[in-house]
Amino acid sequence: MKGTSRLRQLAPLGMIAIALLTLAACGESYPNTTFDPHSELGRAIDAIWDRLLLLGTIVFVLVEIALLYVVFRYRHRPGDTSKPPQTHGNAFLEILWTIIPAVILLFIAVPTVSTIFKTQAKAVAGALEIQVIGHQWWWEFRYPEYNIVTANEIYIPTGRTVNFKMTSQDVIHSFWIPQLAGKRDVIANRTNYIWFTPDSSLGASVWNGFCTEYCGASHANMRFRVFTVKPDQFASWVAGQQRPAAFGAQPNAPPPMLMPFPGAKSDRAAPAPPANPAAAATTGAAAASLASAGPAYTFPQNQPEFDYARPHTPVPAGLKFTPGLTGNAARGQQVFSSSACIGCHTVTGNPMSMGVTGPNLTHFGSRATIGAGLFPNTPAYLALWIKNARAMKPGILMPTLGKNEYDPQLKQAVTTGGLDDQQIADIVAYLTSLK
Ligand code: CUA
Repeated sequence: MKGTSRLRQLAPLGMIAIALLTLAACGESYPNTTFDPHSELGRAIDAIWDRLLLLGTIVFVLVEIALLYVVFRYRHRPGDTSKPPQTHGNAFLEILWTIIPAVILLFIAVPTVSTIFKTQAKAVAGALEIQVIGHQWWWEFRYPEYNIVTANEIYIPTGRTVNFKMTSQDVIHSFWIPQLAGKRDVIANRTNYIWFTPDSSLGASVWNGFCTEYCGASHANMRFRVFTVKPDQFASWVAGQQRPAAFGAQPNAPPPMLMPFPGAKSDRAAPAPPANPAAAATTGAAAASLASAGPAYTFPQNQPEFDYARPHTPVPAGLKFTPGLTGNAARGQQVFSSSACIGCHTVTGNPMSMGVTGPNLTHFGSRATIGAGLFPNTPAYLALWIKNARAMKPGILMPTLGKNEYDPQLKQAVTTGGLDDQQIADIVAYLTSLK
């Protein structure tokens, strides 16, 4: 009995907590909320949710009123041994409470089923097709119309219907962009589709995407970014992506880019906001040195209003990098092209690099994140990633490459064939130059 009374005392607190959580989830300042949809599919799902919530609330209130009435009206009174009127076998009542739920279900089923049919229909002609291939634990994206292969980041133009054609390389994943649309399972040996039109009223924006079907050790680390951009920005991005890698495309280019290397101190810090003059200078210098490659649009990911899309994953304790090293992109290309990297990664324009097990790195330098949305794509994070990716993301195929680094999957240190920090800094300079 003691337990019951304690439960009763805690009940109001629980109700307040639930109410606060519900209110918090409604806020539009939450970048991953589904209550602020920006496509017709997102709004259709949201409308069903609103209707279900309304109907559910009405049913809940009516049932609670009836319950409280009966509890109060027929409560036990001292000395009263009479029974309340019995309704067992009352045909009228039984028909009534069979029909009422059936009618309620009709109000739920009609809009739900019609929306399901609508979203399962074929996408409109002229839709932009993007092939989605789920991998443990990253996303491959292909634009057959433009002959583009990329990973973990998608650009889509506002106002044009995009039709995602999805399959998996291994286990079941699920594709979800909470503020745009979703979810849809990504399954091997089966093609699923999801299509929607990002609102043409949108400015250039970034959206967080997630794998939302448990798929193994790094399921939570299988993220992606969607950039909705204006049609002219999209055309410019496409033109840039269609070129071979900027670095390899320029055999007689000016002297190889030297990449000043941030100190290890900043390795574990949160991504530096653009207000930090040092960070802005590095980004600015990199951008300026690439202007000669032709101005292809990339999303301005460093703007503070898009901070919600910047990953803040901590770096494992003990993973360090020699501060003050300067990478050499030309040397980096040689190291990259003669090491294990080329067995898994393609860099179009580098004939040595044709692997397909890992993400295509042709325009790696233009991406905002690494590790499937897990870390910002900055030299400091990239160096640690190359040095010991398995320590930064559990279970992955990308091997631990740093000399003497401990490989958590092989449970031993890399003794032969590992890369030293200078070699890694060179590879970082090379990859970062691939815009
Ligand atoms: Cu892929 Cu969870």
